Amino acid sequence: MSTRIGDDSAAERNKQPIFDALAPWLVDARRVLEVGAGDGTHAFEAIHRLPQVIWQTSEAPAHHRRLVAALVEADMTRLPAPLALDVRGAWPAARFDAVFGANVAHIMDWDAVGALFAGAGACLNAAGLLCLYGPFIEPEAALTESNARFDAALRARDPAMGLRRLDDLDALAGRHGLDPADVRPMPANNRLVIWRRRSR
Ligand SMILES: C[S@@+](CC[C@H](N)C(=O)[O-])C[C@H]1O[C@@H](n2cnc3c(N)ncnc32)[C@H](O)[C@@H]1O
Repeated sequence: MSTRIGDDSAAERNKQPIFDALAPWLVDARRVLEVGAGDGTHAFEAIHRLPQVIWQTSEAPAHHRRLVAALVEADMTRLPAPLALDVRGAWPAARFDAVFGANVAHIMDWDAVGALFAGAGACLNAAGLLCLYGPFIEPEAALTESNARFDAALRARDPAMGLRRLDDLDALAGRHGLDPADVRPMPANNRLVIWRRRSR
């Protein structure tokens, strides 16, 4: 969970393919909210790859100071100050063109995943995008051995964690005004999954 900008971490390795896949979806976006931003690795990439976007980072209050420190250390003064946002709590009143989260759905418990979709559904502009990156369970495909091992390790650490089924997430999305838009295969059996906000 701890990734340092410049480290050889998973976030460092994944940021380029994530932004290769994400950038075409965000060409017209102006304001993006990142949830569970960790140590800001994706925000740092966003500055370079999506210079037209105001990339609003956020982290759960318990890890907020770590994110603030990482952004200060990397001199990311072009980014707005990170928000302390637990997705289960109050969301910012602002509207966004996209909500992005990397490796968050399998870490959050199911109630928090529900709150993430509810919050995204409420704060996205019409046609805004919820974009989640990470490993997921595709019901029609066998789980790869590495993802099955990862899922088992997460559940052993905390039974509330674990890879989420895409059909469960689609059902959740539908309840919050979000329609499936894309599931993009990514390196190492990850996916970039995108839902689009319906008109209000
Ligand atoms: C595996 S880390 C991913 C960090 C970063 N996105 C990355 O890809 O390197 C999962 C993140 O989800 C955050 N998180 C977990 N529960 C949360 C909640 N209820 N609200 C907001 N963030 C949460 C954690 O604080 C952590 O930073």
